Amino acid sequence: MENENIITFIKNDHRALKESIQILISENAKPALKKSALKKFLIDFKLHAKSEEFSLYDNMVDQNEVHESILEGYEEHSIAELLVDELEAISWDLEFTDETQAKAKVLAELVKLHVENEEEKMLVDLRKAVTEKELERLGLLYKKTYKSLSEEFMASRVKIKPEFERDLSI
Ligand SMILES: [Fe+2]
Ligand SMILES: [Fe+2]
Repeated sequence: MENENIITFIKNDHRALKESIQILISENAKPALKKSALKKFLIDFKLHAKSEEFSLYDNMVDQNEVHESILEGYEEHSIAELLVDELEAISWDLEFTDETQAKAKVLAELVKLHVENEEEKMLVDLRKAVTEKELERLGLLYKKTYKSLSEEFMASRVKIKPEFERDLSI
């Protein structure tokens, strides 16, 4: 059995991202399939990127072996987040246009490259730089952050609309 450490957890979550990415960059996938892949991808990416930053990036950025990769990681996340924000501002639930698909494809390509960089360089160097115990500690932090962010996310989806809240408070 694989060890329950941050490298295993990150790679697992990358696997889910890669599945959506394949659909979003495909020339043959139908718009309806891309639409559902995009919905899943946006949630998966935000939860993963934030958890990864909080557990791995923030704690290991001063570690020489992974310093540069992590700085690049922050930059890649923030470029991806710009596109995520733009996509979230569009009501593509109603109309999934060619422009939306193009934006989603560019985001998917960017994250594909980012995930490859992490797996081929950052995680390999991290494995060499720190002990198994430290990898497990970071893994725990990753899981905990992921869980609380998902709960926050779910809560925000069922939140009462502000105008209702105002009505109720009278
Ligand atoms: Fe990342
Ligand atoms: Fe990642």
